[in-house]
Amino acid sequence: MWGAIEHLGRDDRTRGYLRDAWSPADLELRQWFRQEAARRGLDLREDRNGNLWAWWGDPSERPGVVTGSHLDSVRQGGAFDGPLGVVSAFAALDMLRAGGFEPGRPLGIACFTDEEGARFGVPCMGSRLLTGVLDPDRARGLTDDEGDSLAEVLRRAGRDPDELGRDTETLGHVGVFLELHVEQGQDLVHRDAPVGVASAIWPHGRWRFDFRGQANHAGTTRLEDRDDPMLPFARTVLRAREAAERGGVVATFGKFRVSPNNANAVPGLVSAWLDARGGEETAVRALVAELVEFSGAEVSAESWTPVVDFDVVLRERIAATVGGAPVLATGAGHDAGILASAGVPSAMVFVRNPTGISHSPEEYAETADCHAGVTALATALEDLCRS
Ligand code: GLV
Ligand code: MN
Ligand code: MN
Repeated sequence: MWGAIEHLGRDDRTRGYLRDAWSPADLELRQWFRQEAARRGLDLREDRNGNLWAWWGDPSERPGVVTGSHLDSVRQGGAFDGPLGVVSAFAALDMLRAGGFEPGRPLGIACFTDEEGARFGVPCMGSRLLTGVLDPDRARGLTDDEGDSLAEVLRRAGRDPDELGRDTETLGHVGVFLELHVEQGQDLVHRDAPVGVASAIWPHGRWRFDFRGQANHAGTTRLEDRDDPMLPFARTVLRAREAAERGGVVATFGKFRVSPNNANAVPGLVSAWLDARGGEETAVRALVAELVEFSGAEVSAESWTPVVDFDVVLRERIAATVGGAPVLATGAGHDAGILASAGVPSAMVFVRNPTGISHSPEEYAETADCHAGVTALATALEDLCRS
């Protein structure tokens, strides 16, 4: 399976992945998912928000046990964030079938749409729409860097954007959700464990800062006559780092756009995106409030995800089932967190990442650890299917 998808959306210059939601690479990955489902005789359903579900058994009779993840990537991302969970889901199902397992309840494999929010700015778009925490009108109007709205992009991909929105029926099919994911830190390295189980996801969000000034000639405009928005932006980046250290949180300006983007012109507009996260919501909120005040920019909140504490009984049960795996918190967002917040009992299994690097082509997991992840996933699914 890995060999069939590793070239899709890969930038051969950098080895990084460009798998924006609804891009040609993403559409090919979705097609691959359909084929893998068909090869196994699973019943493939696409919900009104573009999420894909491959079912063994009928979840309208009884809510099922679901596993899976996403196939889109951040820009220049790694191979594992998302796809490891989907490939492992199919592999775990194969392992269970090879052992003669017959599920006592439906078993589903999910592929969530646009988890990263690389294209339209809102992460976990598919699960947020499914659960109703994202307003479909707002989603339809979100635009990508080309200025194309999600509604237009969906129409071009042959979908009806008017269908977007909370999908109670599909959500009702998910009795429990278990997402396997590459670890995006080095906790498991330090604990000398190939797999772990998630305890919590930090509260996190994204904010857009627009710094406005006056575009002008770089040679003829005296310094004292300039209104250069690059300067407050630069000061705000430094302040974000300082405030994060002071507040015990993390803050990142990882994306910005300069307009008009000429080497020989003072810019007229700098738009920049702040990603802020931390163990305590109040500390994250305080950092954002400080930067809004300090920057003088026009600021709009693009997404917010409150803290997620995964179901304690479920996570302890899975940790015990897979052989006493360590339980750890993460600063990364996941569809499992969105489902958990919507009341679906959810859990996550992490696979060790030797360097901890993620959202980068350097992201990695050893094959033996990936196999340990599949075994852990199969064991946990088997146990969950019994209840
Ligand atoms: C998703 O990977 C995120 O945490 O941004
Ligand atoms: Mn990611
Ligand atoms: Mn992910």
